Amino acid sequence: MIVIIDFGSQFNQLIARRVREHQIYCQIVPSNLPFEKIKELKPRGIILSGGPSSIYEEDSPTLDKKIFDLDIPVLGICYGMHYMIHALKGKIKRAQKREYGFAELKIEKQEPLFTGLGQTLQCWMSHGDSPEKLPPGFFSIASTENTKNAAIANFEKNFYGLQFHPEVEHSHKGSEMIKNFLFNVCKCTKNWTMGSFAEKTIKQIKDQVKDKKVIMGLSGGVDSSVAASLIHKAIGKNLYCIFVDNGLLRKNEKSDLEINLNSHLDMNIKFVDAKEKFLTALKGVSDPEKKRKIIGNLFIEVFESEAALIDNAQFLGQGTLYPDIIESKSAFGGPTSIIKSHHNVGGLPEKMKLDLIEPLDLLFKDEVRKLGLSLGLNEDLVFRQPFPGPGLAIRIMGEITEKRLSILREADAIVLEEIRNAGLYRKLWQSFAVLLPIKSVGVMGDKRTYDNCIAIRAVNSNDAMTADWAKLPHDLLGKISNRIINEVDHVNRVVFDITSKPPGTIEWE
Ligand code: XMP
Repeated sequence: MIVIIDFGSQFNQLIARRVREHQIYCQIVPSNLPFEKIKELKPRGIILSGGPSSIYEEDSPTLDKKIFDLDIPVLGICYGMHYMIHALKGKIKRAQKREYGFAELKIEKQEPLFTGLGQTLQCWMSHGDSPEKLPPGFFSIASTENTKNAAIANFEKNFYGLQFHPEVEHSHKGSEMIKNFLFNVCKCTKNWTMGSFAEKTIKQIKDQVKDKKVIMGLSGGVDSSVAASLIHKAIGKNLYCIFVDNGLLRKNEKSDLEINLNSHLDMNIKFVDAKEKFLTALKGVSDPEKKRKIIGNLFIEVFESEAALIDNAQFLGQGTLYPDIIESKSAFGGPTSIIKSHHNVGGLPEKMKLDLIEPLDLLFKDEVRKLGLSLGLNEDLVFRQPFPGPGLAIRIMGEITEKRLSILREADAIVLEEIRNAGLYRKLWQSFAVLLPIKSVGVMGDKRTYDNCIAIRAVNSNDAMTADWAKLPHDLLGKISNRIINEVDHVNRVVFDITSKPPGTIEWE
């Protein structure tokens, strides 16, 4: 395995994904994890992530310097490189201004990090400080016009540093550099596959649960379905699933789910109708975080009372993924910041005194999909676009009413139908409609209208951490717009959201 030390970079999950793409297991750990714990993980290599700090700032993250004595290869990226230089008695120059964006990297020494990558490459810079004096034993192996030490190496110790970010897609052949680090430097062997993961996890669940019962909330999404089917493979009918209809689902969603879940998963599933409860609690609420809290708490309440009907349940299954854990900061306490409160992490288990089973908590979404297929789940289910727990509530800006839900449902169904017809559904990470809290003037026939506005949101992403707005063809946008205005009552304007993440988020609330 590879350990990635989290110095607070917004890109550290991308580093992890790049490593796993090469079928090597890796884990992100906070920089303040005790040295002994890092050692216990027996990493083949250590990657020091970037981070927003300058090493000269008082509370900038640090790391036990003993890791440089472990005789394990290290790759420092940006802040990680600065930290390594600083720790090994080199010197970092404080920046007057940041360098941000593309730069041409001139490679001076190919092996082992740049093997097979040519002489020049485009790389992506985002840094303030830069190396001034390298520690003993280090050499520059690549430079850019502004940065002499854009890549450095101590070949004897197998320590490498990159001033740029190989993990972001803008860095040309960045993934190859990481691959070279894994195989040429760390001598890793590929062994991280979803088949081996499933086998190991099913056995672990069996050993942990024995003949006790597990309850689990299903959302109909990929994560909870894959988690449930993994648990089901381990313990069969001792898994009890609960599906809460919160009234915030999309058009036909419940019936589609019933077909998918019942026919493909053959599990104990109880469908609970809690529409009224949720809509009553949400009456008059416009604030996004309040909506999320109300929905999260109510979900727990409904789930708890349903769960109480199942005797002797001792475990709670959840489809929590690795990014949920990192984003919510709960598992590792690293410096990566919380962006929105994701309600599927935390809350439930403490209150219910159940032990948690989260079989996907080390996986990224693309890995979960591969796992789903290897477990024999239906492709429609496995390739469903993600849908947030709080449902349409966070796609209706302002107050949630039955009428506004119905407008959004109809518009959203048209967006999805046309996206599917255009063969784009699987290519897009997500595509949906959002109901805006404004009305605008229009003219229909000869009549003035004053009605609602729908925004179309479509994004490409690999993991939802970053996303690009999708360049949907104009005639497709035109068709969706025409259909929504003609077919959905009380909508007279459609707009297209052209914001990427960052700076936007995928959902509007
Ligand atoms: P944002 O809007 O933060 O969303 O860019 C990132 C991804 O997470 C999904 N999302 C959620 N999923 N519960 C969930 O299960 C939530 O509260 C939640 N909020 C956002 C969102 O759809 C996107 O895929």
